[in-house]
Amino acid sequence: MAKIGPKFQCTNCKALHAKWSGRCDGCGEWNTVKEVGSDTGLANASSGGKLIELAGLKYGSGPPERSLLGIGEFDRVLGGGLVPAGTILVGGDPGIGKSTLLLQAAAAFAADGGTAVYISGEESRSQIGLRADRLGLSGAPVLLGTDTNISNILTTLDRQHPAVVVIDSIQTMWSEHVAGTPGSVAQVRAAAFELVRHAKQRGAAVFLVGHVTKEGQIAGPRVVEHMVDTVLYFEGDRGHHFRILRAVKNRYGPTNEVGVFEMTGKGLLGVENPSALFLSEREKPTPGSVVFAGIEGTRTLLVEIQALVAQSAFASPRRTVVGSDSSRMSMIIAVLESRCNLSFAGQDVYLNTGGGIRVTEPAADLAVAGALMSGLLNRSFPPSAVAFGEISLSGAIRSVAQTENRLREAAKLGFSKAMVPGGSKNLPVEGIDAKGLDDLPDLVNMFLDDTHQQSTG
Ligand code: TYD
Ligand code: MG
Repeated sequence: MAKIGPKFQCTNCKALHAKWSGRCDGCGEWNTVKEVGSDTGLANASSGGKLIELAGLKYGSGPPERSLLGIGEFDRVLGGGLVPAGTILVGGDPGIGKSTLLLQAAAAFAADGGTAVYISGEESRSQIGLRADRLGLSGAPVLLGTDTNISNILTTLDRQHPAVVVIDSIQTMWSEHVAGTPGSVAQVRAAAFELVRHAKQRGAAVFLVGHVTKEGQIAGPRVVEHMVDTVLYFEGDRGHHFRILRAVKNRYGPTNEVGVFEMTGKGLLGVENPSALFLSEREKPTPGSVVFAGIEGTRTLLVEIQALVAQSAFASPRRTVVGSDSSRMSMIIAVLESRCNLSFAGQDVYLNTGGGIRVTEPAADLAVAGALMSGLLNRSFPPSAVAFGEISLSGAIRSVAQTENRLREAAKLGFSKAMVPGGSKNLPVEGIDAKGLDDLPDLVNMFLDDTHQQSTG
């Protein structure tokens, strides 16, 4: 058992003792050794602290007052604008467009009369000036600083009193009170701590930019995620021009809300109708292609799921997934093999999502299964169909939330058919012929019937 420290103390000389005795060894007094924590007023954890004011749960009135950044997609992801004293971590791969997005946000806020300070530890004034020029923002009243020393930055912020602060990036900041190079866990934690404290004391909304490592974590410590109020990820495929801003944690709003942007020659533009854009790259009906009617936050997003199944030249076939979860695909392949008599043995399988969008919903299972099956059998689904539904290990197709919204969006974009879970509620939806499927063998039978009719009729 672990040894427990002294539990007795002399009321006269405060000497600590492991056990009780009649006379204190320290000062020689009699009957002064008392048990610590008994009602003697002696040293224990409760001595020396100040009283905390305790109150009821009701605090102030109504939700926090928000101010808008002025970029619609961004404000929506934040839950309806900025909360004073809120801290927001914006994570993403290098080069994805974080600096561009935050410079645009700072400029939009400043153009509306707010004070915005942008501190860069990564780029020089002239580099940022060039970017601002390119974005057509060189006239925006953003206060720009380049430094990496936290004390200098805090002193400057205390003087300026901005409502919005951007720190680009947290990995370049360092505090002289902590050992370690910038970017080390201790430095990132200390810098973030100081900046969060500044936000709380001064009521500024503070954005921290964080680079993401290959493993997909905000580089350095995950601890920054716990310190801030909101964590946003800026993601997308660098080969494509779509970018998604996704809330993964938000103390002041819904999580999983997304904003969709397009990277153009003049910076990031909000996309009002993302489904139309994602599908605009779609070609003629091809084997292995199924459109998934998905939900991201409060938005419906139609995304094309593409699968390619090809004879493998390798001893162990390749399984490559871009834009969704590879273990999920392996599971779906296993279910197709064991419940539907299909075999992917000796086949390379590639799965991709249109537009480089990452799909995380389990509701995409049915579309993934459809794409894999269609790729394997080399026959295409009708291009007018969408699919959604979650697949269980037994092969059952489970219903998912927001059936109606998904189908409405599909109808709006000109789709007329849907493959949906058999147990779906809120059917039918106007303009869509929805076919309820109870399990994966249902999907296979329907597919074989349809494609048989196509080839004979
Ligand atoms: P950047 O904001 O520097 O990325 P991060 O801060 O996440 O590292 O974005 C860099 C990329 O964005 C770069 O490859 C060029 C591209 N870009 C455009 O396509 N259009 C633009 O108007 C700007 C400013 C950048
Ligand atoms: Mg940058």
